[in-house]
Amino acid sequence: MLPFDPVNFRGQFEFFQHNPDWVYLDNAATMHKPNAVIDAITAFYQRNNSNVHRGAHSLSQNATRAFEQARDDIATFVNARERQQIVFCSGATAALNQIAFGLMHTVLKAGDRVLITALEHHANIVPWQMHCARFGVTLDVVPLDNQHQVDQQAFSEMLQRKPKVVSLSHISNVLGHIQPVVQMINQAKAAGALTVVDGAQGIVHDSIDMQALDADFYVWSGHKLFGPTGIGVLYGKTAALELLTPIFGGGEMISEVQFSHSLFNILPFRLEAGTPDIAGAIGLAAATNWLQKVNRNEIKNYKAMLLNQFFEGLKRIDGLDILSSPVHNAGIVALNVQGEHPADVAELLNQQKVAVRGGQHCAMPFFSQLGLAGAVRFSFAPYNNEADVTTSLQALTQAVEILTA
Ligand SMILES: Cc1ncc(COP(=O)(O)O)c(C=O)c1O
Repeated sequence: MLPFDPVNFRGQFEFFQHNPDWVYLDNAATMHKPNAVIDAITAFYQRNNSNVHRGAHSLSQNATRAFEQARDDIATFVNARERQQIVFCSGATAALNQIAFGLMHTVLKAGDRVLITALEHHANIVPWQMHCARFGVTLDVVPLDNQHQVDQQAFSEMLQRKPKVVSLSHISNVLGHIQPVVQMINQAKAAGALTVVDGAQGIVHDSIDMQALDADFYVWSGHKLFGPTGIGVLYGKTAALELLTPIFGGGEMISEVQFSHSLFNILPFRLEAGTPDIAGAIGLAAATNWLQKVNRNEIKNYKAMLLNQFFEGLKRIDGLDILSSPVHNAGIVALNVQGEHPADVAELLNQQKVAVRGGQHCAMPFFSQLGLAGAVRFSFAPYNNEADVTTSLQALTQAVEILTA
């Protein structure tokens, strides 16, 4: 394993050579891709392109090998017990829809309950809402405390209502707060619930050992983990994946089709209807293989240093409402300039070539509870540097001066 060298790390992202004057702090939305990922995708299309699992010819067999190797690599990356536990899909949203819909036919019956938290991304709210309403299942929401953390007392109490499923985010995409997922999963399991973790932000922050975490499902999107868009992972324990009714029918996911009926394939193919995103899976495995070469603890410490520097700088700017806490934070800061709309602040930063996101960050219920129009979100990645922190603080100071002049 190589020590983490920030300059060398950043140097592997060609994006910054083409955009040297931009400070990119919208990493929670999507990350840039290192050359290793771009090269792997290009090499697949240039040299190996063929469809998988079906061709009699050697080119298809090569493509199948590369695609299935990607599954193995990703299984190793998260220490999944079995390779079939890695189901490829288009991203966290697709995976959560598959879980929400898939369980309605098997685990969840009318009168049952599903528990989520008030800190969820829409992707972990709307699929449950859609299917709960349709199947007569009740959706309960754990409220937040006054620090914008999930209220653990309320969580314990709501588990007494015996939800069949508990679905929660590992890390808030708005605030960056790291949830006590290990403890919450253990509590949910003790209450008899199936556990779902939305790991779209969690997988980015830390190494995740699926066997140690022991959630039934853990989902994420490739594009937030240095990989391409259009690919993601639905990890599930084998028994949990077997409970899912496929959301899509078609080729690949069947073992036999008659006009009278069809028989489904074995895992993971049962949940991967149609031609998969072959190059995407190969690109995502290239990302995880590349990331595994670097000491991730050092990456975490580096990001914590940038975050600390940013929070220190914020103390010198008057008129801010900071929503995020620096404690247990994965590198995201949501804030508002008092009395100003977050979109205006984000636009003034954009004019200074600081890329942030302003708005509700796919978490409308969270902002409704606070009575806020949204927030400006600064999200850090290991390719950011101290100059990015300084420039973004200067740009924010300037934005505040303009708005409050
Ligand atoms: C916590 C969380 N969950 C789910 C999603 C949805 O991811 P995608 O749009 O890639 O499916 C996101 C994306 O921002 C996220 O941050």
